[in-house]
Amino acid sequence: MNKLAPSILAADFNILGEQIREVSDAGANYLHIDVMDGMFVPSISFGLPVIESIRRNTDIFFDCHLMIMDPDRYLTNFARVGADSITVHVEACKDPVATIKAIKSLGLKSGITLCPETPLENIECVLELVDMVLIMSVHPGFGGQSFMPSSFEKIEKLRDMIKKRGLNTDIEVDGGINLNNLGLVLDSGANVIVSGSSIFNGNIQDNIRQFKKIMSEHN
Ligand code: DX5
Ligand code: ZN
Repeated sequence: MNKLAPSILAADFNILGEQIREVSDAGANYLHIDVMDGMFVPSISFGLPVIESIRRNTDIFFDCHLMIMDPDRYLTNFARVGADSITVHVEACKDPVATIKAIKSLGLKSGITLCPETPLENIECVLELVDMVLIMSVHPGFGGQSFMPSSFEKIEKLRDMIKKRGLNTDIEVDGGINLNNLGLVLDSGANVIVSGSSIFNGNIQDNIRQFKKIMSEHN
């Protein structure tokens, strides 16, 4: 089944709890949580205390996308504050295999991701280990950017790599997804859709309803 993962990077932090409730009530499957360290990416977003706080307010699956250098340093902390899955950047790990094994040993779902310019070959070493591969369809660091069309080919290639190995790995896509390109992203082989600005700008419930309608048509 396709899954929708609204990214709270685009939420109104004044009323974050309310907006999380709203996306969850409207049928979002995951909450996508973008953690940025100001090193791996230029921006700093939010971190452990925010996640710990929102965890008390909801049971929704926390899909944590760590845009941080050497994420091994913080895996146990993210598990402690309530992450359900942790996705790390292959470019940020000293030993991606060890990092993915560490995430799994904490009892969490594991994901690997890569920047648009990084070839898929770089994640092959963990492909048989991870639950999910996240294809970045923008340069990580900021919400509200345009979807890079080169991502379509990458999603298709990844889908073939997964199929060839007989795996059941989720393909998540993140960055610049809106109602106009959503169908194409799904048809390329994605089954977990991240969206920030197209969900939180305007009427959240209407946006989710429209996303879910297209997602059900492309299942
Ligand atoms: C970018 C983040 C994305 C971003 C998506 O670094 O990883 O999750 O919040 O936002 P939109 O949908 O606005 O591109
Ligand atoms: Zn993200």
